[in-house]
Amino acid sequence: MIDVLFLPEPVSQQHVCVVVDVLRATSTIVTALANGARCVVPVRTIAEAKKRKAENILICGERKGIKPKGFDLGNSPIEYFTVKDKEVILTTTNGTRAISMINSQKLYAACFLNLHAVIEQLRNHDHVTIVCSGQKGKIAYEDVLCAGAIVYELNDKLTDGARISRELWKQSRRKDLSKLLFESQHAQELAEYGFSSDITFCSQTDLYSIVPVFVEDRFIKQAP
Ligand code: MLT
Repeated sequence: MIDVLFLPEPVSQQHVCVVVDVLRATSTIVTALANGARCVVPVRTIAEAKKRKAENILICGERKGIKPKGFDLGNSPIEYFTVKDKEVILTTTNGTRAISMINSQKLYAACFLNLHAVIEQLRNHDHVTIVCSGQKGKIAYEDVLCAGAIVYELNDKLTDGARISRELWKQSRRKDLSKLLFESQHAQELAEYGFSSDITFCSQTDLYSIVPVFVEDRFIKQAP
């Protein structure tokens, strides 16, 4: 059975969850790990992130889209090309909040950048819940679209949430993904803040073949 939650809610299950925040937290997590970061540790608050600052540890993230004062990096995935061997502490408005609500046997992070790597990983599992991070408590189009792209390729029983997201992907999948993402509400806000290049970057499908998996308190690269 595959389920899609359009908004995060507490999930505590014996099975597998996938968190999606296309713009931009899971795109950032995937990019950091693909570029050699040792791990990405999601934390809820700016204060928590600051407490963990140390050598070889980068404190990163955003509030209202912008890098908080004293942080090393913001939440633009394109800032994460030179993080080799670093530990990344990440706090964001929606994505890390969604992650903190999930307490499942396995948790993966997905976005368009690692779409098919995640799909392949999920073929080994029977019960999957995809959790869309949303934006400020509202449904985010780009997350549901990405969830639909995952569901579309998995042959399994679907909940209504999974069917709705698959239908969205079915009618959109031949269109220009970057154009679709640019039309989303969140993308329009990010563009206003000057982050248009992030949207273009996040709309690349299968740029990376890694799958972040959550172990204890951090995402690491799933062993191939
Ligand atoms: C979040 O997790 O809230 C988002 O990634 C926000 C953003 O686009 O920076």
